[in-house]
Amino acid sequence: MTPNIQIIYASQSGRNQAIAGHLQAQLASKAQTVITEISQADAFELSQSDAIIVVSYTFHDGDLPDEAQDFFEDLKDVDLDRTKFAVLGSSSKTHLHFGRAVDYLTIQLNSSNGEQVADSVKIDRDADDDDWARVDQLAQRVLTSLA
Ligand SMILES: Cc1cc2nc3c(=O)[nH]c(=O)nc-3n(C[C@H](O)[C@H](O)[C@H](O)COP(=O)(O)O)c2cc1C
Repeated sequence: MTPNIQIIYASQSGRNQAIAGHLQAQLASKAQTVITEISQADAFELSQSDAIIVVSYTFHDGDLPDEAQDFFEDLKDVDLDRTKFAVLGSSSKTHLHFGRAVDYLTIQLNSSNGEQVADSVKIDRDADDDDWARVDQLAQRVLTSLA
């Protein structure tokens, strides 16, 4: 059966939204995909997906984006029941705490009993060819985990 994958993104200036769109294009032939902006995502429904991929920038001083806070708080009350997941995001090495939101989300999704199926990927601002290759590898790992 075709797996369903939810891609959840937080993006202010478009980089992470573009990564989410790229992921959807990569996965489209092998999975049913839905993209959700993070403030619209329901943490309590995540386990209905076969896998989730969370894409987020980092804001403030190494923190989650404001619009990701509710989702993150709700995750603390969720049992993902071993739902497969992966996390990635574009943030910026010009800041002290590079990509810290990726770390927080990775830790919380593990704590919420998710099954991490790919190493988390941090991208410095605009993705270059190597970064896109890492994004594609992450997508492939998610697909392989569902096969
Ligand atoms: C006010 C502000 C604070 C930021 N703080 C951080 C930070 O602490 N760590 C980090 O890695 N990037 C930080 N960034 C950089 C963004 O995460 C980065 O520009 C990212 O690529 C934006 O993604 P988007 O285009 O999807 O919004 C900050 C950006 C802004 C505007």
